Amino acid sequence: MHKNSLDLMSLFVTGYLSNYGGESIRILDVGSQGVDADARTYRQLFVGENWQYQGLDIAEGHNVDVCVLDPYVWHEVPSDAFDVVISGQTLEHVPFFWNLVFEVGRVLRPGGLACLIAPSGGHEHRYPVDCWRFYPDGFSALSTWLGFELLDTFTDWSHYWGDSVVILKKPTWTIDERQAFEHRWQVAMSLLPGSHTFTDITFEATAEASILKNSPQGKLSELASHRRTLLSTALHRLQRAVLELLGPRITRGAISVRNQLRSGKAPTAN
Ligand SMILES: C[S@@+](CC[C@H](N)C(=O)[O-])C[C@H]1O[C@@H](n2cnc3c(N)ncnc32)[C@H](O)[C@@H]1O
Repeated sequence: MHKNSLDLMSLFVTGYLSNYGGESIRILDVGSQGVDADARTYRQLFVGENWQYQGLDIAEGHNVDVCVLDPYVWHEVPSDAFDVVISGQTLEHVPFFWNLVFEVGRVLRPGGLACLIAPSGGHEHRYPVDCWRFYPDGFSALSTWLGFELLDTFTDWSHYWGDSVVILKKPTWTIDERQAFEHRWQVAMSLLPGSHTFTDITFEATAEASILKNSPQGKLSELASHRRTLLSTALHRLQRAVLELLGPRITRGAISVRNQLRSGKAPTAN
């Protein structure tokens, strides 16, 4: 996993979960497998005393607790079970990602949060396929598609992958609204190509709301922009220090080369 994505998810934890360090919070990481040589994963960020992190993937491997048989219908995961669903560098590999987010919607508790990170740029990288890139307008459309609340979305242009981030909140719906979601979920699943069974997936008429239900708007944008300012100030200071240190030597060297060229001598290294 590239460091910028880890940093953005860490800011999500700071901005949205740090007040709940002692509370019981369940986190599901979709596409959790540690695939890079560094084997870095988001697990290390979710370390609250009573927090329970679970990694879900379609492949067995490092950092995978639940390996699902069907990429779009997670028979292994009950409805309304998680306070937080996270995912990084995965949506671009899912051909019908609009169906996958319906599963994210199903397994979140009312008031629960999804924090999804996916690239807007970078090179083609197939795990096992590479289908899509994401922008805030696309994430906003996904929010509407689910009937969720959009708490934040932006693209971090400071990095090679141009990570786009979205934070969605599952509303605390009335019974009728929950049934409408269930109906839309079933229609979406029935349109999937291939054979998918989902008669065993159960939806309850009510569910207890997550402790995160009062989460703020725009907190991650604020923290990410603060981080970029700090980084660019630090870079600017470093550039000035290097120039102050090496500037006089570079200037002396340039003057010496110019003088040697003027006098017709070949420049000598000094
Ligand atoms: C590029 S890797 C990213 C892994 C990790 N999140 C990271 O950033 O290092 C994408 C992962 O998504 C998994 N994946 C692809 N489709 C999936 C699906 N429908 N549900 C869950 N995981 C999926 C792949 O098996 C792979 O492990």
